[in-house]
Amino acid sequence: MSTSPIGVFDSGVGGLSVLNALREALPHERFVYFADAGHAPYGERGDDYVATRTRAVARYLLEVHRIKALVVACNTATAAAIHELRGEHRALPVVGVEPALKPAVAATRTGHIAVIATRVTLASRKFKALHASLAAQADFRIVPCDGLAGAIERGDVAGIAALSERYLREAGRFGSAPGDIDTLVLGCTHYPFIEAELRRHCGESVRFIDTGAPVALQTRRLLAEAGQLVAEGEGAVALLSSADPEALDAAAARWLSRPAGPATAAVA
Ligand code: DGL
Repeated sequence: MSTSPIGVFDSGVGGLSVLNALREALPHERFVYFADAGHAPYGERGDDYVATRTRAVARYLLEVHRIKALVVACNTATAAAIHELRGEHRALPVVGVEPALKPAVAATRTGHIAVIATRVTLASRKFKALHASLAAQADFRIVPCDGLAGAIERGDVAGIAALSERYLREAGRFGSAPGDIDTLVLGCTHYPFIEAELRRHCGESVRFIDTGAPVALQTRRLLAEAGQLVAEGEGAVALLSSADPEALDAAAARWLSRPAGPATAAVA
């Protein structure tokens, strides 16, 4: 067993949706959550930029916080840098997130699935390979959602509503009739926080698929295999932001299912 913390990282507040699932599955662990808000959003930047930031944050979490595992709670960072990260830190369990296309194929009845995510995620080689491997099994409507993670980050309610409406309209008709899209993949960790808004535009019957729970289970599995699982005592969360700790506190108060300590500023 190791009482070192687990590092969790996103460009901003989106990874809090994954942190909720992690705390559920690993209630006795300590977590250090790093929001790289000073460099967000990642989703409309170049691959190299995102990869460089991801590697810098991983190094910071290892060197300063001595993490025992890293959860890259960001689809964009996973797509841009997970292979490099694993190559650079061979002894560190590293878990990434990617749009859950396979579970969506298992869930759909109509065979029509919409995938919303950032431009960088959807343009990545990793995503294209995943899509190609499943393209024969369902019709995927893939919609890059420029600006949406940024609007969520800023709490821009009008922006979130306008962009949700526009992007879901672009995907096509939602519903359960033949030809309708009946399954929506939330391919960015920011999007679970706007489920209610998304639902206003696609209806009650559509199934939403995100990756928080499977990522948490995979993290638990890897820690158990490494003999590093903490099985008793109270867990804890430290919140860090490379931009504005108060904004992260406000997001945590709104979206974390259990409270966390006050956020502090950090430079990675
Ligand atoms: N939350 C991130 C993801 O899952 C992206 C947000 C951003 O564009 O920075 O892809």
